[in-house]
Amino acid sequence: MSKAKLELNGKSYELPTIVGTKNEVAIDISKLRAQSEAVTFDTGYMNTGACTSKVTFLDGEKGILEYRGFPIEDLAAKSSFAEVSYLLIYGKLPTQTELDNFNKSMGMYSDLHSGIEKMIEVFPANAHPMGVLGAATNALTAFYPELLTTSPTDEQKDKMIAQIMCQMKIIAARFFSKSQGKKFIHSDPKLDYSSDFLNMMFGTVDKDVKDALEVLFILHADHEQNCSTSTVRLVGSSECNVTASIAAGTNALWGPLHGGANQAVLEMLEAIAKDGADYKKYINKAKDKNDNFKLMGFGHRVYKNFDPRAKIIKKACDSVLNKLGKKDVLLEIAKGLEEAALQDSYFIEKKLYPNVDFYSGIIYRALGIPTNMFTVMFALGRVSGWLAQWKEMVESPEFKIGRPRQIYTGLVDQKYTDIKSRGK
Ligand code: SDX
Repeated sequence: MSKAKLELNGKSYELPTIVGTKNEVAIDISKLRAQSEAVTFDTGYMNTGACTSKVTFLDGEKGILEYRGFPIEDLAAKSSFAEVSYLLIYGKLPTQTELDNFNKSMGMYSDLHSGIEKMIEVFPANAHPMGVLGAATNALTAFYPELLTTSPTDEQKDKMIAQIMCQMKIIAARFFSKSQGKKFIHSDPKLDYSSDFLNMMFGTVDKDVKDALEVLFILHADHEQNCSTSTVRLVGSSECNVTASIAAGTNALWGPLHGGANQAVLEMLEAIAKDGADYKKYINKAKDKNDNFKLMGFGHRVYKNFDPRAKIIKKACDSVLNKLGKKDVLLEIAKGLEEAALQDSYFIEKKLYPNVDFYSGIIYRALGIPTNMFTVMFALGRVSGWLAQWKEMVESPEFKIGRPRQIYTGLVDQKYTDIKSRGK
């Protein structure tokens, strides 16, 4: 592959390049500072590849998303969340035996340690479920010391993966019951992932609801090096245990610029509904540089075309609401907002399209999930991708602790002075 040439201070440097299996090109600067004393600068890592990966491929210009080479549209239409999780984590579609064993291994962790149960009980009912999920996930190591293993064998990794996937689901459902003042329904290892979650949440499993949830979990499962996945990798790169790495990713996901956007979208739609559904007013607010209002659920760091997940979820909104015999004025407002935005030059020029969070909250709401649990739903889908990316990282020959550089712009040549001489 051709090399890149860099001219700096009268010297020129040749830099190797890396080409991926989808012909993406990267300039490898891993030796740049040793050769030139310079580092690169890239706020928000907008142009910086942190790793090579075989897990997920995105093409932002074409609106393509593939898990291990399989188009998201096929997986959402034909697969199950457990099967997609296996695909992401182990790199291939499972045989029936492998899938059964994967489900069985998750079912081994249906009993949550009483210490974690008590911890969930002490949180106030109005605590934000993401704070509870992150805290209780991190605390698993306190009650399951085997999770502290920092260089796990393959067998230990398999157990950790199964336990974290199963018990984050239980923590989420258990706190929901507590926050609703309801008796907790125990996890049932005989049920598949989504059915068990719905049964714990609502005491019943409606097939249409379960099918919709499976699709949502699949669509949220992985998305290459997004903010929360990069957090899981960075924390895990210090050889920190996988549970703490996943808890860190959970906290990164919480932000409204990332996974917290699905809750922010619903709150925005409710505010617009209250304000006479005048969504043109909100489009103008989003365009106004002096107004820090953003159209939540719009825009994306990578997608400069439709987020393929948003297309699938938008379609699912109509079918889920029809199947459940529900109408939601917020869906009509969302559609109107999307239509107006996509005809507006501001959104067209900046290539701002609906992302995965724009419509997902409408479905969660129709499924009876409370707004403050929307990001928890995102996390339960994404945990399989976080685990897949963590496993790939710790097994990679590229494994290295992450430690970005900086450019110092602070004060220089300061002289220490006695405190008495510094004034009041
Ligand atoms: C997720 O990375 C992933 O893969 C994430 C994710 C995943 O699956 O993991 O896809 C999940 O996090 C989706 C994104 C959810 N967040 C939101 O919906 C929040 C609203 N969106 C924005 O905050 C924003 O679009 C981001 C955070 C998603 C992307 O931010 P960038 O890439 O840093 O882009 P930017 O903020 O620099 O915006 C570029 C321009 C700016 O205008 P200028 O300064 O160039 O004039 O577009 C404008 C922004 O002001 N802009 C918006 C906007 N998003 C960007 N203006 C109004 N409303 C918006 N939503």
